[in-house]
Amino acid sequence: MSYEDKITSFAAQVREGKVAEPTGELRLGVDLGTANIVLSVIDAEDQPVAGAWEHSTVVRDGIVVDWAGAVKAVCGLKEILENRLRCRFTAAAVDIPPGISEGTIKVFRNVLTAADLAVSQIVDEPVAASRVLGIADGCVIDIGHGTTGVSILKGGEVVQSVDEPTGGHHMNLVLAGAYQVSYDEAEDLKKDPKRTDDVFGVIRPTLEKMATIAQRAIAGHRLEMVHLVGGAASLPDAPDVFSAVLGLPVVRPLEPLFVTPLGVAMGGKK
Ligand SMILES: Nc1ncnc2c1ncn2[C@@H]1O[C@H](COP(=O)(O)OP(=O)(O)OP(=O)(O)O)[C@@H](O)[C@H]1O
Ligand SMILES: [Mg+2]
Repeated sequence: MSYEDKITSFAAQVREGKVAEPTGELRLGVDLGTANIVLSVIDAEDQPVAGAWEHSTVVRDGIVVDWAGAVKAVCGLKEILENRLRCRFTAAAVDIPPGISEGTIKVFRNVLTAADLAVSQIVDEPVAASRVLGIADGCVIDIGHGTTGVSILKGGEVVQSVDEPTGGHHMNLVLAGAYQVSYDEAEDLKKDPKRTDDVFGVIRPTLEKMATIAQRAIAGHRLEMVHLVGGAASLPDAPDVFSAVLGLPVVRPLEPLFVTPLGVAMGGKK
């Protein structure tokens, strides 16, 4: 299965509750994001089997700000997946923004432990994405709800990473101001395909700011292209904006929000 097919299958599993026939042992991954908590199940061949998500406000800028809320969400999603797959999970992998402190990593670890899950693996978010994309070297730009993360990978490890607070959240603030609507209405407006052309002019400067963060982060690195992932990369013109600022080809999967969550449990014990 191509990586694009894997991501698209996983997106359908999350959105529509679909389940794929697994090969071998199941592995669970937990992605705690600013806007979404996503749990992924993959099989021994790293193929997507099932997924579940919940809108969340428990993480802000890579820090768990609502510990009890995070535990409750992980427990609830785990139970949904266990019922769907008729199995029990006792361990999971978790991803973290690169470069966070040991103390913050411990909080992510504790969320899993409190949800009765042993921590099988702690993986940097861009490494998770790179495993799905099948790259060991290159650049992964993750534009989520809270931050823009830019990571350079060499040999499957993060060698340089920048994470700055500009994401989909900031687009909502700009849209709410421009259209005089509530924050939640701005979120819906942004994601409405019928309004894309209308709202894009207002959102473009925020995307350009993200691209400028990336431009600074990759200065001095010889790159032939970059990979763009994260929910905010769903905007149809996002690759063009990044490509214009970076002067490089930009590759964005069809379902960029699901790339990092799908890769969390990959590469672990088989
Ligand atoms: N179709 C869409 N068009 C535009 N934006 C979208 C679309 N779908 C999702 N988004 C935006 O993507 C963001 C969520 O993406 P993602 O789940 O990658 O973030 P996160 O991992 O929770 O945040 P972070 O990585 O910053 O902690 C939200 O701002 C959401 O509005
Ligand atoms: Mg994220």
